[in-house]
Amino acid sequence: MAHVNVFDTTLRDGEQSAGVNLNRLEKIEIAKQLERLGVDVMEAGFPASSQDDFEAVKEIANTVRGCSVTGLARAHRKDIDRAWEALKGGAEPRIHIFLATSPIHMTHKLKKTPDEVVETAVEMVSYAKEKFPIVQWSAEDACRSDLDFLVHIIEKVIDAGASVINLPDTVGYTTPDEYGKMFRYVTENVPNIDKVILSAHCHNDLGMAVSNSLAAIENGARQIEGTINGIGERAGNAAIEEIGVALEIRKDRYDYQTNLVLKEIKRTSDLVSRLTGMMVPGNKAVVGRNAFAHESGIHQDGVLKESTTYEIITPSMVGIDSNRMVLGKHSGRHAFKEKVKEFGFELNESKLKEAFESFKNLTGKKKEVTDDDLFAILTDTQTEH
Ligand code: KIV
Ligand code: ZN
Repeated sequence: MAHVNVFDTTLRDGEQSAGVNLNRLEKIEIAKQLERLGVDVMEAGFPASSQDDFEAVKEIANTVRGCSVTGLARAHRKDIDRAWEALKGGAEPRIHIFLATSPIHMTHKLKKTPDEVVETAVEMVSYAKEKFPIVQWSAEDACRSDLDFLVHIIEKVIDAGASVINLPDTVGYTTPDEYGKMFRYVTENVPNIDKVILSAHCHNDLGMAVSNSLAAIENGARQIEGTINGIGERAGNAAIEEIGVALEIRKDRYDYQTNLVLKEIKRTSDLVSRLTGMMVPGNKAVVGRNAFAHESGIHQDGVLKESTTYEIITPSMVGIDSNRMVLGKHSGRHAFKEKVKEFGFELNESKLKEAFESFKNLTGKKKEVTDDDLFAILTDTQTEH
């Protein structure tokens, strides 16, 4: 079974979410939890961006031993030097250099010709390789780049010493089919491609970041990049927990393994949410509050008889104690009876009917009936009137 590396960028691209600002200690807490989660690489920050980021990256690189720590750098010598100062004490120092390759970025942002971009990329990768054992190079905005230009520049940066090539969907524009085809094209046309690991980095502007990452894996990517809870620039990055669980649950389709310890997912998600202040939406796949909640009578009845009727992921797989039967207006007798038992009440059939009717009346007034509401109904029903 092929291995897929998990590259976590919660502390770099994730921290670029509007309104998020992690201090050094918060970053270190998250880094330790990411290590427990089993990521292969963590991008701890962008050392040249600020003194605080430099200090945080340095401390994380010197503390974390269980995985490789990397830092982002523009294709500038001073960024690479700064990254080296921050990362040199790490267990496996690696640098992540990016340079845009799309006409739109080369013309308007970099104001460089394609030949100048190739020259800069090659020069900076060779320079970084003098220090770093592992150099990752990203073709920023790869999905809006000319495919043959991508093939050309990738061949050159591999010759210059890059060992990981990342093809980001920087603006979340691509579809799974297109993204997969880009990886296939690069794999089939870059002559020295077998010397490197190909990486996928997807943004979620059109809600396709996870699907695009899976399509990349099926077409040759052996590293996926993402963040916890999918936080990140604009609409965020691919959610690592969703990719990890999809690969596990759909083993029939995806014959790949990762080092992720899936049981650590919920703890990691909670920590990132608390420290970044980015709330996880209730309906968020894998870690949302409702991801294992059942409200309708038909679903509750099915799950109580056999959980796999409506649950494809077991809560314990991702570190959640159990599923939840939510009592609301769609709920039926089966879940209600279970809840009564759970509270330790023994009601005869007519009392049970009476209590169920009171509960149904309450659902006309409240969206969700809480345990306290239910307890009040049950004690009230038991009391002889
Ligand atoms: O989305 C992107 O292109 C990036 C690069 C820095 C890799 O985050
Ligand atoms: Zn990004």
